Amino acid sequence: SIQSNLKGKKILITGGPTYESIDPVRFIGNHSSGKTGVILADECANRGAAVTLVLGPSIHSPLNPAVNVIRVTTAADMFKVVQANWSDSSIGIFSAAVADYRPANMAIEKIKKKSDEMSIDLVKNPDILAWAGTQKTSKQYLVGFALETNNEIENARGKLDRKNLDLLVLNSLRDKNAGFGYDTNKVTFIKPNNILINFELKQKSLMAKDILNEIETDFTA
Ligand code: C5P
Repeated sequence: SIQSNLKGKKILITGGPTYESIDPVRFIGNHSSGKTGVILADECANRGAAVTLVLGPSIHSPLNPAVNVIRVTTAADMFKVVQANWSDSSIGIFSAAVADYRPANMAIEKIKKKSDEMSIDLVKNPDILAWAGTQKTSKQYLVGFALETNNEIENARGKLDRKNLDLLVLNSLRDKNAGFGYDTNKVTFIKPNNILINFELKQKSLMAKDILNEIETDFTA
C-alpha cells in the first residue's frame, strides 16, 4: 500500500480510566477498559508513527513494542505527562475516560467506618483535552471522544467547538454492544463545518482504522 503520511510523526494518545484516591485503599474510578487507547496506539505504530500512549489503570497493553507506554494512575499524573509531550506532537488522540472530580484531600490512613452517613468533598480535575485544544497550533491535529446519553449530536458539536478539536468520535450509550468493555463500537465522526459521518457497529480494531484513515486524509502538515 501507499506509505502512510503518519510515518515518523509523533502521536500522543491518552487511554483508560483514571483512579482518584480517597485513602490508601480506596479510589473513585470508572468502567473504562483502556481497549480503545491501546488499539489506537497499535494502529498508529503499525503505520510507522512514533507513538506515546499515556495509559491509566488497564489490564491491556499494546502489542506493537514500538509504542512508548507511560502508565499513570490519576488525572493529575496524566495531565503532567500530556503537558510535557503535547507541544512536539503532531497529532493528539485523547480517548481516556478521565475522572471529572477527585477527592479534595486524600486521607493518609484508611478511613474508619463510623456514622450511618458520610460524604467526601470533591474538586474538579483539569480538562486535559481542553488544555491541549488551547495550546494547539495550526500544524497540530486533535481528536477527542465523547460518550453521550441524550442530545448526542448537539452536545458533541458543542464539545468539538469548546475544546478546539479537528475530530470528535461520538459513541452513544443507547447502542447495544458498544462502548465500555465491549470489543465492538458504533461511532459517529463530528467535524468542523457541520460534517457528520455515521459508521456501523464494528470491532474496535476496525474502528481504529476508520479513525486513522480519517486523520491520514485530513493531516497534511
Ligand atoms: O467533556 P467530556 O468529558 O465529555 O469530553 C470527553 C473528552 O475529553 C475525551 O476525549 C476525554 O479523553 C477528554 N477529557 C480529558 N480530561 C478531562 C475530561 C475529559 O482529556 N478531565
